[in-house]
Amino acid sequence: MSITTLGQFIIEKQQDFPYAKGELSRLLRDIGIAAKIISREVNKAGLTQILGEYGSVNVQGEDVKKLDIIGNETFIWALEKGGEVCAMASEENDDMIPLQGAYSKNGRYVICIDPLDGSSNIDVNVSIGTIFSIYRRVTESGTEPTLNDVLQPGNKLVAAGYVVYGTSTMLVYSTGKGVYGFTLDPSIGEFCLSHPDIKTPEDGKVYSINEGNAGEFPQGVTNYLNWVKETDKATNRPYTARYIGSMVADFHRNLLKGGVFIYPPTAKAPKGKLRLMFECIPMSFIAEQAGGKSTTGTERVLDVEPTEIHQRVPVIMGSKNMVDKVLEFMK
Ligand code: AHG
Ligand code: MN
Ligand code: MN
Repeated sequence: MSITTLGQFIIEKQQDFPYAKGELSRLLRDIGIAAKIISREVNKAGLTQILGEYGSVNVQGEDVKKLDIIGNETFIWALEKGGEVCAMASEENDDMIPLQGAYSKNGRYVICIDPLDGSSNIDVNVSIGTIFSIYRRVTESGTEPTLNDVLQPGNKLVAAGYVVYGTSTMLVYSTGKGVYGFTLDPSIGEFCLSHPDIKTPEDGKVYSINEGNAGEFPQGVTNYLNWVKETDKATNRPYTARYIGSMVADFHRNLLKGGVFIYPPTAKAPKGKLRLMFECIPMSFIAEQAGGKSTTGTERVLDVEPTEIHQRVPVIMGSKNMVDKVLEFMK
């Protein structure tokens, strides 16, 4: 048999880090477990007619938890059991959560997550995702974690990745040595290596942006969008618009096929809508590791010094030449 499971792959790759004691490997394994549980819950979402709408009370009179909350709690459970992580920051919680597992205080890592990305797509059966990023803690192991452990720039990342719940469930991650994609084989319940060493095309045809906000975009973005539509008016127009509204899914398509994803500042969201810690940093890390590029329009996303957990930034990321083209218009 020629399959490699996520678990096998993680152990093989541990040799890339001669000083590692295996904690990161265990942490990645725990994330894989959480991802499988969330995938199962996501797959059940279509049965809400029978099981009860998420967020409502089901026929047995029990509260049906929202998938965002299920995702959040699943991660807390998996990480507290694992004990490699001392604290978590999540899109679902205002403040950092110090984990309470028996060994959590000794954990050498912190994690940031967006447990459910693209929530507006859940009840219409459209792809959604989970995003995670991992840092080494800065405080002493064995002490109470502090906000400084979480508020680290992307250039300090140890690993990051995402899970996309699409036509199949895929987990994509990087520890800074390339990007690897695994597809969940439900028949054996394992993530299997399906996309070794993902490289994103330098150029692409797809641009992904919510053009419903066009009236609120900075002039540079407007000019870029005009250019995209004017280019080669004749026959084969080279560009095509694709926007799912789940960043994970939009990003994943562009990563594999080439493209640019833009969430610019708007009048309503002057700093952009997407969150630095939970969305922009991890996806930018993957983009760069795959040979792509990611910027806020003025600086590399991975170099932004975070000042608060729920900070937002504008983002332009994807195929290098396409990002550069947008930047050219924004100058
Ligand atoms: P979340 O579901 O975690 O709140 O994130 C939704 C995000 C992102 O996935 C998506 O790209 C973006 O919001 C869509 O925003 P607009 O509807 O403003 O385009
Ligand atoms: Mn999100
Ligand atoms: Mn979310």
